[in-house]
Amino acid sequence: MDNPENNVSNSIMLKEIFEQPAVVKNLINRCINSEDVVTLNLPLNINNIVISASGSSYNCAAIAAPLFREMLCIPCEYEYSSEFILQKNYFVTPETLFIFISQSGETSDTLHAIKKIKELGGKTLCITNAENSTLWNLSDYRILSDAGEEKSIASTKALCAQLFCLILIILKIKFSKAQSIEREIHALKRLPLYLERIIGDFDRIKTAAKMISKYRNIVILGNKTYYPVAKEGALKIKETSYLNVAAYPFGEFMHGHVAVLNEKAIVIAIIDDENEISAKRNLQKIRDDYNPQIICISSIKDVDCGDYNIYIKTGKKIKAIFGALITLQLIACEIAAILKKNPDKPKGLKKVVRD
Ligand code: F6R
Repeated sequence: MDNPENNVSNSIMLKEIFEQPAVVKNLINRCINSEDVVTLNLPLNINNIVISASGSSYNCAAIAAPLFREMLCIPCEYEYSSEFILQKNYFVTPETLFIFISQSGETSDTLHAIKKIKELGGKTLCITNAENSTLWNLSDYRILSDAGEEKSIASTKALCAQLFCLILIILKIKFSKAQSIEREIHALKRLPLYLERIIGDFDRIKTAAKMISKYRNIVILGNKTYYPVAKEGALKIKETSYLNVAAYPFGEFMHGHVAVLNEKAIVIAIIDDENEISAKRNLQKIRDDYNPQIICISSIKDVDCGDYNIYIKTGKKIKAIFGALITLQLIACEIAAILKKNPDKPKGLKKVVRD
């Protein structure tokens, strides 16, 4: 793993991170027609969403769930597939859509989960990168995330494509309720360009990675949709550099978890206009009591409350979510390169987790 022959700075993972603008461009061309209509085939009479997935696909579900709630005003639950299958009762109605997300379409926990819901007669939809996979064939409705083959063990472009598909689902349902989606479609069409700008900032991101790579106690904080973004960032760093990284919702972190900090720890704080005031207040307390290094990833220009700040160049929520995700992916990849770990060959991990 520490073999110098491993060319860690030219990893497949990095290549796949760089492919994300093209992946999104392809989905726009395939799923939004010239009249700005989302062309996915979906059941539309839906008033409840339940999502089941594992790993990064689960984090994707958790990132999208608040968007389902805010943009459609309908309940949206999500559960790790491995937990979902242990449930005793399932609330299945004709208006409930069960969504199963899996890059490979072969993850055993997610396959068990969809089989349970099918037995109960629930309406199922999959988002998968593998056409004709087992998950694909089991589902009533299917969306191909179409990210191209993902070779890197750590999922990056597949999650980006899954999230884009979930946003398209939201917009399609919103449109079916006679609500305008013009503004959102316009923003989505500009997403590839925005992602290129984030990737273009890699040098600034590398500086953050260099700082983080010196620490063995790493905490990532975010609120609402950015908490699962933080979890995804933590997962990427764990998978590629084997560091012990933990993600927390900002406010909850102050309820005891904060005790893990000291001057030998580093905090990565994700800040947007919704959590700005509380995040800044909590960061000040953290500084006063524990004095760790702080890096901010923020959609607010001049946020200026970290020892190092990365501005993700947009105030628009959906763009900023992708921006924070890609920033954390690049940080993880660069930490691996600095620590001479090959992110394409993580110890003990397999691309598909089967029974
Ligand atoms: C994370 C990662 C894993 C997978 C998980 C689910 O980078 O690769 O956590 O996300 O095993 O895999 P799929 O999406 O194929 O069901």
